[in-house]
Amino acid sequence: MERSYSRLAALLGIGLFGFLGSVWSGPSTAWAAEDPGVKVFVEKRCYTCHTVNARAAEVDKQKDAFIKQMGAEPDEEGESEKPRGGDLSDVGKKRDRAWLESFLKNPKPQFKDDADCQKEAKKKDRKKFKGTPDEFSALMTFLTSLKQDAKQAPGFASCLKE
Ligand code: HEC
Repeated sequence: MERSYSRLAALLGIGLFGFLGSVWSGPSTAWAAEDPGVKVFVEKRCYTCHTVNARAAEVDKQKDAFIKQMGAEPDEEGESEKPRGGDLSDVGKKRDRAWLESFLKNPKPQFKDDADCQKEAKKKDRKKFKGTPDEFSALMTFLTSLKQDAKQAPGFASCLKE
């Protein structure tokens, strides 16, 4: 009798431990499994013009891995200037998937007509998305999941028509 009690207690203990463990690891499992959309965001160099404050740790991690794999940060147009695309943390709240898809496939018509904004629209990596359908879809899933609050740099003014 006593033995089965202690066995029960041991089982409960393990059960509780396991339960707490799974609760505890809850938020971090999302971290462990790398979001393929974040990877695309980094590999397509979206991070050179945009921040995603709400997911900064993940983006930074992928970015470090990417830069390491490349050997060095590739030097491209727009690099030396400060990021001008803004923070995308709330873009899934502001835009629906259809808007995002058409924007990424052809961003230019969405930019205001003034000279500065048209210049932004023409930057190399701002042009039409180039990648596989899988990459595009992973990126879309990532962008539409961004429903936090954006943290724009002071003085940020949008170049988009709406
Ligand atoms: C050369 C700089 C640059 C790069 C690289 C770039 N963007 Fe942008 N992006 C911009 C600018 C500028 C805007 C317009 C932001 C504004 O003025 O509101 C913009 C706007 C956007 C918007 C719309 C934001 C909104 O408020 O509705 C999305 C979504 C977006 N970019 C996603 C991406 C993704 C995904 C990539 C990578 C595939 C990328 N961008 C790469 C400069 C860039």
